[in-house]
Amino acid sequence: MQNKVRKVLITGGTGYIGSHTAVVFIEAGYEVVIADNLSNSKIEVLDGIKKITGTKPEFHKIDLSDENITSDFFKTNNNFDVIIHFAAYKAVGESVQKPLMYYKNNLNSLMNVLEAMLTHKISNLIFSSSCTVYGQPDELPVTEQSPVKKALSPYGNTKQIAEEIISDTLASNNYLKAISLRYFNPIGAHESAVIGELPLGVPNNLIPFLTQTVAGIRKELSVFGNDYNTPDGTAIRDYIHVVDLAKAHLFAAERLLKNKNKSNIETFNIGTGQGNSVMEIIKTFEEVTAQKVNYKIAHRREGDIEKVWADTKYANKELAWKAELSLSDALLSAWNWQKRLS
Ligand code: UD1
Repeated sequence: MQNKVRKVLITGGTGYIGSHTAVVFIEAGYEVVIADNLSNSKIEVLDGIKKITGTKPEFHKIDLSDENITSDFFKTNNNFDVIIHFAAYKAVGESVQKPLMYYKNNLNSLMNVLEAMLTHKISNLIFSSSCTVYGQPDELPVTEQSPVKKALSPYGNTKQIAEEIISDTLASNNYLKAISLRYFNPIGAHESAVIGELPLGVPNNLIPFLTQTVAGIRKELSVFGNDYNTPDGTAIRDYIHVVDLAKAHLFAAERLLKNKNKSNIETFNIGTGQGNSVMEIIKTFEEVTAQKVNYKIAHRREGDIEKVWADTKYANKELAWKAELSLSDALLSAWNWQKRLS
């Protein structure tokens, strides 16, 4: 007997992580449906997904933060085995300027999706959370048990509140299950250079700013602070290849579908377990691409933490997932993607 094809709804599926996740699920034999309002992504991403996988996923341009639109969508689209909820705003600085826009969008969309899951008895949710919930951890590497610290931005706070909303909703409904994945710093692009990160305007994140600088779009990269308590003075993060990160969602989905979860809500760190400083990123980029990075040392950026990297033992053991691609792979893929864009 043939196995039934599993159907997954990916909200925010034309976005950076969402599009790579769509590829992973299509390649694993899932039927993928994408819902996205295209507020921070382009419809052409669907062609990129088709080019890589041979399949163009079903697409719905909808705003999930709108209650009526969301409930209408789910009236005719509800036979999902899993929902992966990416749809959210993600710029830390912008969230400080426009907090209500962040709370409304990120939390309403989650609540509308949860409501639909309850109404239509859709059991499995994967939520995209962030290592930002740990703030500056007291101990490194940071485990899932580390305390959640007061968020440094409205964006970070939406991730914390979202985890609580999910947890409270699950506590009152025993057929709902969720896995919250706390991402460290996703970087890089699909090896085909057909999909990747598409920052609108001046990028905030390190890698797109770096690749745009090397491509001549930006004059120079500012290294935000070299007086941190780290070996070379620059801040340390756990940079994970977006394709590895995307694959973690597949392992999470399989865990939910096979009922291997140990509690109705589980949380996993999704990182490499390795920390790299900003200067190490620049040096490695220069080595693997043979390009020079024009940079200067600048003041620390407000709200930045000094260092964080993941303890990934729990995810390695329970999800049977491990990051496999190297920092060099990630940086090279980011450069190949940038070359295609510029
Ligand atoms: C932030 C968020 C994280 C979010 C991620 C992607 C926090 C604490 N972190 O991560 O939750 O998932 O953005 O949106 O809210 N840097 C420079 N020059 C630059 C840009 C960055 O030196 O032009 C440095 C930063 O100081 C930092 C590192 O590079 O040390 C990484 O920065 P960035 O890519 O912006 O990510 P985070 O701030 O770590």
